Amino acid sequence: MSKQLSKSFFKRLSTPINLLVDPGPNDEEIDHAINISKDVPDHGNLKPWNIAVYKKAEQINLSELRRAIFIENNPQSTDSQIESEFLKFQRTPLLLVVTSKVIIDNPKIPIIEQYLSGGALCQNILLAFNQLGYGAKWVTGWPSRSKSFLDFFQLKNEDIVLGFIHIGTPDKIIYRDK
Ligand SMILES: Cc1cc2nc3c(=O)[nH]c(=O)nc-3n(C[C@H](O)[C@H](O)[C@H](O)COP(=O)(O)O)c2cc1C
Repeated sequence: MSKQLSKSFFKRLSTPINLLVDPGPNDEEIDHAINISKDVPDHGNLKPWNIAVYKKAEQINLSELRRAIFIENNPQSTDSQIESEFLKFQRTPLLLVVTSKVIIDNPKIPIIEQYLSGGALCQNILLAFNQLGYGAKWVTGWPSRSKSFLDFFQLKNEDIVLGFIHIGTPDKIIYRDK
C-alpha cells in the first residue's frame, strides 16, 4: 500500500468567529501550541515574528484602543457601529496577534522571505490549535493596517501585523472532508 498522509492533520478549517466559544485553551495548551508552531522554515534563523497572547482580561484594553481609533477615523459613526468595533477583539476566549518585526537591509534574506516565514507560523498556529481540538480563524481588517495600531504594537518601517488569530471551542463541528 502506498504511503498515506494523516487526514486529521490536513483537516484544517477556519471556524467562523461567532462559533468560537468557551472554554478556550488553558495556559499549558497555549504555550505548547505556540512553541510547536514556532518551528517554521526561517531563512537565517532570524525569528522575525512575534506572538502576543490576549486572553479575555487583556482583550479589553485592546478593544478600548480599537474603539478610540475607530471613532477618531470615523467621526460620523453610529453608537451601534462603535459598539460592534468595541466587541470585535473580545469575541473569542483567546486572541493571538501575530506580527512580523523584520530585519531590513539584510543582503541575503529579503523582507518577503521573513514575511513568508511568519505566514507559515500563522498556518502552524491554526493547525496546532485544531489538533488540540480548538477552532481558529485568521483575520486582518483595518486594525492590521492602522498606523495607530502599528505604533501600539511597536512596529516600524516594514514591520507588519500578519494577523489576528481568534481561538476557541467550535460551537458546532464543522470540519469538512477534504
Ligand atoms: C492574511 C490573511 C488575512 C485574512 N483576513 C481575513 C479577514 O479579515 N476576514 C475574513 O473573514 N477572512 C480572512 N481571511 C480568510 C480566513 O482566514 C479563511 O481562510 C477563510 O474564511 C476561508 O476559510 P478556510 O480557511 O477554512 O478555507 C484571511 C486569510 C489570510 C491568510
